[in-house]
Amino acid sequence: MDRPIYLDYNATTPLAPEVIDAMIPFMKEHFGNPSSTHYYGKEPKKAIEKARERVAELINCQPDEVIFTSGATESNNHALRGIAETRRDRGNHIITTRIEHPSILEPCMYLMSQGFEVSFLPVDEHGIIDLDRLAQEIRPETILITVMHANNEVGSIQPLSAIREIISDRDIVFHTDAAQSTGKIATDVRELGVDLMSIAGHKVYAPKGIGALYIRDGLKLPRLIHGGGQERGLRSGTENVIEIAGMGKACEIARSNFEDNFKNMKNTRDLLESKLRESLPDIRVNGHPDKRLPNTSSVSFPGIDAGQITCRLSSVAVSGGSACHSGGTKISHVLDAMGVSKQYARGTLRFSTGRYTTTEQILQAAEDIIRVVKSLIYG
Ligand SMILES: Cc1ncc(COP(=O)(O)O)c(C=O)c1O
Repeated sequence: MDRPIYLDYNATTPLAPEVIDAMIPFMKEHFGNPSSTHYYGKEPKKAIEKARERVAELINCQPDEVIFTSGATESNNHALRGIAETRRDRGNHIITTRIEHPSILEPCMYLMSQGFEVSFLPVDEHGIIDLDRLAQEIRPETILITVMHANNEVGSIQPLSAIREIISDRDIVFHTDAAQSTGKIATDVRELGVDLMSIAGHKVYAPKGIGALYIRDGLKLPRLIHGGGQERGLRSGTENVIEIAGMGKACEIARSNFEDNFKNMKNTRDLLESKLRESLPDIRVNGHPDKRLPNTSSVSFPGIDAGQITCRLSSVAVSGGSACHSGGTKISHVLDAMGVSKQYARGTLRFSTGRYTTTEQILQAAEDIIRVVKSLIYG
């Protein structure tokens, strides 16, 4: 049997073949410790610094403003807990949104248990925050604003540069979780006006377990891991050279094929949506009509449980319901915050296309999805 068509690029991307090639030498001849001053340390050290330059080029910052981490979860935790710790004497208030990834929401909950106050901004029906509301929430004690760049479930893109304008004359640190936007839309840290930005390697065709944190020059973060002083002393431990090399290559490719990749993600995503709408006029697509990632399609099939669809849809790998019985699908906090009714929210699947998605795959997937949904409606 053929493997299912992969339409879950927001969950993770396959490794790019060029990324695999870039990693192999560090599993073989260049196995040395990058801290070693002898021959074997040289190539690994060079590879780390080259990778740092590649990440910096993709997000338009200086290489020494980038540290490597284990992924966006760690970057988010380091940013939030770090700023809370260094700025505690200045204030105890943090602003975020209701639709963040758990790797932001959970650290916020933890910080609340430590005496911080957190404002969770609501979003409109398109999943976008209200800038006036954000401005109203700012207090003299506000030390940090963390707003995700693009949402993982519905793809809505937040107006980050407008947030920077609102806080331009205030001493508030601005962090964004760019795990989903990096490589899909422009993530220029200067244009976005952020002080801290989290990146995940496995969403840009690098391996799982590698990521990066952009830290604006001059901004102080405490050490996450104490030890040998690697990564500017912020995150000690012998570097994950193999994956760092892969991440560098992945960022280089993301930059060089940005337009082609954007077009392919968008064309295939749009084709899927139009095919589904043609045959299933009752469906609804969640997220902002334009301010949305080019690859993401959150589709609600009213009156059906997403779990029922995925259980019958073995030919397409898609994110959504997991239970094979009606009523078993948990309603996402993102759709809930957007005010999507239960009837629609329960029947929501997230399709996400990527670099290797083809028109043929989409046509086949659309046919299979339509067949399964019709069989559930009409029996
Ligand atoms: C928006 C967002 N933030 C953070 C993460 C976590 O990234 P990682 O798996 O690299 O820890 C994800 C992964 O799904 C995500 O979509």
